[in-house]
Amino acid sequence: MALVLSGRKYARVVRASLRQRVSELQGQLPGLTVIIVGENPASKVYVAAKEKACVKVGFNSNVISLPAEVTQSEILAIVDKLNADDSVHGILVQLPLPEHISTDLIAAAVLPEKDVDGFHPVNVGRLWRGEQGLFPCTPSGIVSLLHHHNIPLSGKNALIVGRSNIVGKPMAALLLRENCTVTVAHSRTVDLKQRCAEADILVVAVGRAEMIKKDWVKPGAVVVDVGMNRRSDGKLVGDVDYDDVSPVCSAITPVPGGVGPLTIAFLLENTFKARNSLLAD
Ligand code: GUN
Repeated sequence: MALVLSGRKYARVVRASLRQRVSELQGQLPGLTVIIVGENPASKVYVAAKEKACVKVGFNSNVISLPAEVTQSEILAIVDKLNADDSVHGILVQLPLPEHISTDLIAAAVLPEKDVDGFHPVNVGRLWRGEQGLFPCTPSGIVSLLHHHNIPLSGKNALIVGRSNIVGKPMAALLLRENCTVTVAHSRTVDLKQRCAEADILVVAVGRAEMIKKDWVKPGAVVVDVGMNRRSDGKLVGDVDYDDVSPVCSAITPVPGGVGPLTIAFLLENTFKARNSLLAD
């Protein structure tokens, strides 16, 4: 039977370690400010969870809620003010933004040293160049989870299904930094099933409920499921058919309780890291 890679348990370990490190800090507490625009119910839930997690580890947390009609220049002015505010170490603009706002423009306005999402082009460059920087939370959490379980990565064939800027692409860069041989597959990939079946490490982030079945998975592979889908019967499932796949793989992340809880834990890690580098300057 496969090893269950519980992100829920590991996120607790990460948060306990952060609480400890916060309690030992001299001077300023880490401070995160989240900007949320409009009334997207899922975004509201995520932002509330981020705020709660900050408070629990002893960070300062601030949420700026803006109406959906806010202009791009109004958001930019707020970001500029936060960039200049020494008590703010992390700035996160919750996505998606309304259509009249350019996500790329806002991402590029955040000071790279406060960009705890790792979405600024400077941080993307640092990630691919193998430099120090702030990198996207979900992929960072996944690599850390694999290390926590002593899963060897160097020299392994890693296949990432999905090429988003939030998960797929940064996941590829991070696994390359771990010396994996990395392939990124996507909706136009020919022979996807065959590609999946050749992977030692399979990371799936496509948003298609239970798409990956056991005959898509190499026996003994490590399977990471970033999906979060609501099945027609109401059950929350990943992109991997867990019951089908878990008997053939060596390790697998469940849904829920796998990758999901790591995103916020690593947002906290990024905020802590941003605070330390800003104060070291
Ligand atoms: N919306 C969904 N996921 C994310 C994320 O990782 N960061 C931000 N800022 N918004 C999101």
